[in-house]
Amino acid sequence: MGAIVVVGLQWGDEGKGKITDLLASHAAAVVRYQGGHNAGHTIVVGGASFALQLVPSGVLYPGVVPIIGNGVVVDPRVLIDELSALEARGVDTSALVVSGNAHLVMPYHHELDRLTERYLGKSQLGTTKRGIGPAYADKAARIGLRVQDLLDEKIFRAKLDVALREKNLVLAKGYNRLPIDPERVVADYLGTYAPLLAPRIVDSVRLIQRLWREGRTILLEGAQATFLDLDHGTYPFVTSSNPTAGGACSGSGLGPRQIGEVIGVAKAYTTRVGAGPFPTELSGSIAETLVSRGHEFGTNTGRRRRTGWLDLVMLRHAVEINSVSEVALTKLDVLDPLEEIRVCVAYDVDGERLEELPYHQSVLHRARPIYETLPGWRRSIAAITRAGDLPGPVRRLVELIESRVEVPIRWVGVGPNRSQVVELQGS
Ligand code: GDP
Ligand code: IMO
Ligand code: MG
Repeated sequence: MGAIVVVGLQWGDEGKGKITDLLASHAAAVVRYQGGHNAGHTIVVGGASFALQLVPSGVLYPGVVPIIGNGVVVDPRVLIDELSALEARGVDTSALVVSGNAHLVMPYHHELDRLTERYLGKSQLGTTKRGIGPAYADKAARIGLRVQDLLDEKIFRAKLDVALREKNLVLAKGYNRLPIDPERVVADYLGTYAPLLAPRIVDSVRLIQRLWREGRTILLEGAQATFLDLDHGTYPFVTSSNPTAGGACSGSGLGPRQIGEVIGVAKAYTTRVGAGPFPTELSGSIAETLVSRGHEFGTNTGRRRRTGWLDLVMLRHAVEINSVSEVALTKLDVLDPLEEIRVCVAYDVDGERLEELPYHQSVLHRARPIYETLPGWRRSIAAITRAGDLPGPVRRLVELIESRVEVPIRWVGVGPNRSQVVELQGS
């Protein structure tokens, strides 16, 4: 059986954590394949809410092996804190392992993320300031430190020395900051973090390949989303990794033919945190409704999310480039009170109708959405468990989306809780 990728189809926070958790009940392992603690994946079980940053969403099921794959950038302090917080709440995290090839987020990455954002002024991207971009930049520049380096003091010191030569120059001469003292970094990373993480550091590629050969179900949990992808997103307003399904291979060590399914997760509307184009963005009372009913504040940074209508031009493109097999459409219940629901089916660009995503960013900046308007259902769907009980207008919305993206919607979300998902297939 092939591995299953869970990927965000918009600008993040679609409910990937919830859908991964839903699928994890039958999985042997859940692998995070990119990103870092810029992610915030919320899972609600009964009355308890878990906001995960680095820990894969399968962690709540005993028997699932949570794997932090080679494509992730790991801040060891954040990981240790997250594991202790989960343990304190009674979650057994003992099975979690980390790839020795994953890169480390270092203190200077945090500092440089903050400084570059500040110096960008009006052009700032609105990053999470978690050091993610600088960490991936060092990976590409081949001056990054990896998780396996925590196991060898000589190598760690040598690599840190190389990195700090450049970083301290930039910090001191470029930004007028104090240089970073290597001994403090060594004390924290090797003195404090390494002993705690050492037993979890593994050759994750071997482990994942073994599980795959044994025919076990492997879930690959994306962070961020398609339009935050470094290659396919709204560059430069993107993250520095590849959340799209292709990134699941490079970030885990599975080959393309070992992937069986790609589950695309989309909200029934759209949100975005940080700067960048957003053709269907709303302001006014509908935006207020979406923010308040959908609790659209970052799990991670607390920032209010920008909101807008569902954009099928973008969704269709995302389904294509991720080779999505099925869609999970989340947060439909947020739309409950609306009289009308709008869905963007094309763009108007300088009087011309555009059905496909323009490749040139400046065109997207001035694209005006062309909407189809559907009636709302104006009742609560939160308690619905069977597809047959969904109101007619919900079915119409689902059909419209399916007709445009040309893949089935398999699940719809009717509330944040693990149980609040309605399966459509076979209904
Ligand atoms: P992720 O980053 O893609 O995992 O998504 P987040 O966890 O950052 O944001 C999604 C938020 O919506 C979380 O607070 C979830 O608990 C919540 N959520 C997920 N699915 C649904 C749904 O169907 N309805 C409602 N009301 N909330 C949902
Ligand atoms: P999950 O996994 C939403 C956004 C930031 C910023 C841009 C670059 O919870 O969906 P970065 O810190 O990655 O360099 O910031 O990407 N961003 C997210 N937006 N959800 C996320 O993760 C995000 N991770 C990063 O707001 O616009
Ligand atoms: Mg999130």
